[in-house]
Amino acid sequence: MRSRQLSAGCGRVRRPAVYHFRMIRNTRPLRAKPFGLAAVFVAASVFGTPGLAAGAPHIPDTLQQRIAACTTCHGVDGEGRAASGYFPRLAGKPAAYLARQMQNFKDGLRKYAPMEYTVRHLSPAYMREIADYFAAKQVLYARSPVPLVAAATLQRGDQLLAKGDPSRRIPACSSCHGSQLTGVEPSTPGLVGLPYDYISAQLGSWRTHTRAMVAPDCMAEVASRLRESDITAVAAALASRALPADTRAQAAGSVTPPLRCGVLRATGGTP
Ligand code: HEC
Ligand code: HEC
Repeated sequence: MRSRQLSAGCGRVRRPAVYHFRMIRNTRPLRAKPFGLAAVFVAASVFGTPGLAAGAPHIPDTLQQRIAACTTCHGVDGEGRAASGYFPRLAGKPAAYLARQMQNFKDGLRKYAPMEYTVRHLSPAYMREIADYFAAKQVLYARSPVPLVAAATLQRGDQLLAKGDPSRRIPACSSCHGSQLTGVEPSTPGLVGLPYDYISAQLGSWRTHTRAMVAPDCMAEVASRLRESDITAVAAALASRALPADTRAQAAGSVTPPLRCGVLRATGGTP
């Protein structure tokens, strides 16, 4: 199961319904195991390795050098690993959002063992520094595998993204994530360019309470109103659509969230 997910790296992937369903329930398709070594490496790089320092060649202690460990999973410039379908992009995401996610892994609101381990000893100031570094990176998006789904599924996905579904009290995703779904400064992430597997796993995590944000958790609310088929639909529609010319997050205050989010002000800013 997991190796299939990892190897589904290129071309168009046909994803049987049962695969998708299982993936949502098992919200961490890539568990910690293969990353045991990576995690040790991360710890060594992020926290320094004083024991090895004596006699070792002098390596400048710059932020760039210290976050080298992060980039083994997140890409050299934080561009993500689109082909894996899972390792998320960090580049260009709003800084307050990135810093908050690190804190959330630290506080146990978000679960993924290698990430929890990596951020365990980072101070809020340091997390903010790392967040600013990646937020400032402007690198092109690589496209991830596009799932083969029916045209009606893509249509449903596009409808949810732009208009929502009033009959099920689902607000349009764009009402918070921005008209082009590129996110809103300083705190709301974009959805365009995110891999199908990553999006469906995150929405699944909100439903199974392995991802949460400071209450009120508007995304838990949104995810609970989506059907399994809606999750497939939005994730497929997002992975299939062309990227807008400008992928940067919209200006702060340019949306009025239709639900209360603990991490947003009424105007979409940070409280
Ligand atoms: C072993 C691989 C690995 C390493 C090393 C790693 N990450 Fe991650 N990171 C992930 C994965 C996978 C996720 C998504 C986890 C999930 O939600 O299921 C993630 C999520 C994140 C997120 C949230 C992204 C979003 O869009 O919500 C941030 C921020 C982040 N990582 C920052 C870092 C930083 C900073 C470092 C280095 C200090 C680091 N990561 C090291 C694999 C890794
Ligand atoms: C009421 C505002 C609101 C609405 C409506 C909303 N979102 Fe969100 N969404 C947020 C906020 C705020 C976050 C950041 C959560 C955090 O800090 O953990 C978020 C995060 C996400 C993430 C995680 C992104 C990442 O990089 O990890 C996904 C995926 C997502 N939303 C999908 C959707 C979809 C799909 C819809 C429409 C069906 C939607 N959202 C509607 C506010 C909203």
